[in-house]
Amino acid sequence: MASTPISSSTARRLEGKVALITGGASGIGKATAQLFAQQGARVVIADIQDEHGQALSNELGGSSICSYVHCDVRSEPDVKQAVETAVERYGKLDIMFNNAGISGPLGRQIVDSEKSDFEKVLSVNLMGNYLGLKHAACAMIPAGQGSIISTASVASLNPNGTPFAYSCSKHAVVALMKSAAIDLGKHGIRVNCVSPAMVATPMVTKALGMNEEMVEEFNAAHVALKGVKLKANDVAQAVMYLASDESKYVSGLNLVVDGALNILSTLDSLSK
Ligand SMILES: NC(=O)c1ccc[n+]([C@@H]2O[C@H](COP(=O)([O-])OP(=O)(O)OC[C@H]3O[C@@H](n4cnc5c(N)ncnc54)[C@H](O)[C@@H]3O)[C@@H](O)[C@H]2O)c1
Repeated sequence: MASTPISSSTARRLEGKVALITGGASGIGKATAQLFAQQGARVVIADIQDEHGQALSNELGGSSICSYVHCDVRSEPDVKQAVETAVERYGKLDIMFNNAGISGPLGRQIVDSEKSDFEKVLSVNLMGNYLGLKHAACAMIPAGQGSIISTASVASLNPNGTPFAYSCSKHAVVALMKSAAIDLGKHGIRVNCVSPAMVATPMVTKALGMNEEMVEEFNAAHVALKGVKLKANDVAQAVMYLASDESKYVSGLNLVVDGALNILSTLDSLSK
């Protein structure tokens, strides 16, 4: 009897690729590191939570598959070093996931806000993204290919009650992505964003003082799509699409993963 050929659907989707993930020790970044490793990629996790990052690297198989580097995305030497680590340990960089982010203080009016808080949010969410883009591009240009993905948010389309520095930073991340997609296209490098609605990660559960179930119920009550819960892995799946060759002609896209939240008007949501 003839053996069954391996179908393309069972082939690992990131086999042979090398990825760097900032904010990879927790939440969406962690789910993405797990999925990427499962799909055959070598992964470098860059974060400031050393214990969590190192533990995840061990869980994913240790240095032959996954490495952890301490990297504060606000620091150019740290980001440069993280990119160099990927190239030195695994030979190249195919995928850069600029994902590290913070929400900043919640519930402040503009008049009660602090300049230093505004600067910190922009420094992590926007400047960190810029540094990741820049140094990933330096490593990818000689290879003439690469995929850079940034985590924006539905707050990149509509503030929707998120802190104004956060929404501002995420709008700017999308603007940066579009400029970079144009700039780096001539080198064969694709640049995209992923924009999730609310996911029950430590960033959100801590900031809102809610457990995972409460966050998911809150989210489900507001989005148009009913009957499914948004998990960090759903965002990771969207990132994997943008990282893989399946999206080889996709560049300059803000891929929204939000159950149609951003196109729902207030009147629509009140009538549900
Ligand atoms: N959870 C959500 O509802 C949601 C929705 C839309 C977008 N996002 C975005 O997703 C991204 C990931 O957030 P998450 O929800 O997984 O939160 P998270 O807190 O679970 O993970 C964020 C990670 O970023 C790291 N980080 C923070 N500051 C850093 C710095 N200066 N340098 C390096 N790493 C740093 C943290 O240590 C943490 O591991 C963020 O950009 C966030 O804005 C989250």
